[in-house]
Amino acid sequence: MRHTVVFTAHYPSIARDILAPVADLIEHPTEHQRTEDDVITLLSEADAAITLLSDPLTRRVLASNPNLRMVANYAVGYNNVDVAAARELGIVVTNTPGVLTEATADLTMALILAVLRRVLEGADEVRRTGRCIWEPLHLLGVSLQGKRLGIVGMGRIGSAVAARARAFGMEVAGVRRGEPLDELLATSDVVSLHAPLTAETTHLIDAAALAKMKRGAFLINTARGKLVDEAALCDALERGRLRGAGLDVYEDEPRVSPRLLALPNVVALPHIGSATEETRSAMARIAATDVARFLGGEAPLHAIG
Ligand code: GLV
Ligand code: GLV
Repeated sequence: MRHTVVFTAHYPSIARDILAPVADLIEHPTEHQRTEDDVITLLSEADAAITLLSDPLTRRVLASNPNLRMVANYAVGYNNVDVAAARELGIVVTNTPGVLTEATADLTMALILAVLRRVLEGADEVRRTGRCIWEPLHLLGVSLQGKRLGIVGMGRIGSAVAARARAFGMEVAGVRRGEPLDELLATSDVVSLHAPLTAETTHLIDAAALAKMKRGAFLINTARGKLVDEAALCDALERGRLRGAGLDVYEDEPRVSPRLLALPNVVALPHIGSATEETRSAMARIAATDVARFLGGEAPLHAIG
């Protein structure tokens, strides 16, 4: 009997190439604000599924279809999946680690450079005025050389950012899971977040943490929006306590706070850390290969937990 695999979005074609020979595929259009009921409907015929990081895979969703045996989450992060419920229900969950490390680290450097060197303000000015003005005191930013970068979450991505930042002459310090943050926050000119979102890391950067940061420091977040209390970040930026922020993720995606967007010293990107052709294809290959292995009776290579 052929199994049915549901794609909850359009993924790079390699996913279809790998799975079409071994399973019946149901492909749904990409949508990024689904409710539990939406996902329950999508998964109703699935033996296995490739899911988006914005699909809520709660206990209720996972339990809704007794035939569902596997979920391949098309992301390295899996805070959208109730992993404990999946384990109890005997549903295997996989993610796509490793292949997005370099792309996400590159985008983190892009944000550091953009915020410290005011790249967007400059680019906007040229487009708006049609002119290029050289003035001694115009659009002055901050040099990376000699500044201290504090990395919260020294995993694969954090370490890849560290290597890049050192090449730009930055001094790098980092903390791993469970280590205290205070000294890092108090001594870093730029703080960059690379921790997974869990119950412990939700609002890790709250008003108290922001108050510990150096006056005039910068915050970069390419991990998960809920690591930061966004209202407190807006307060700190509006008061000039922080000098700028570079964000790829938001507390309430797909919504982006209008307060953030009103600030010229915020560079806001639409969650594109892993968005290169190479990386997104590699993620699709990993997810689909693990589904194919699982349906063929082999252990998937990237099971969580
Ligand atoms: C993207 O945010 C991912 O977790 O892969
Ligand atoms: C994810 O790839 C991480 O461990 O940082």
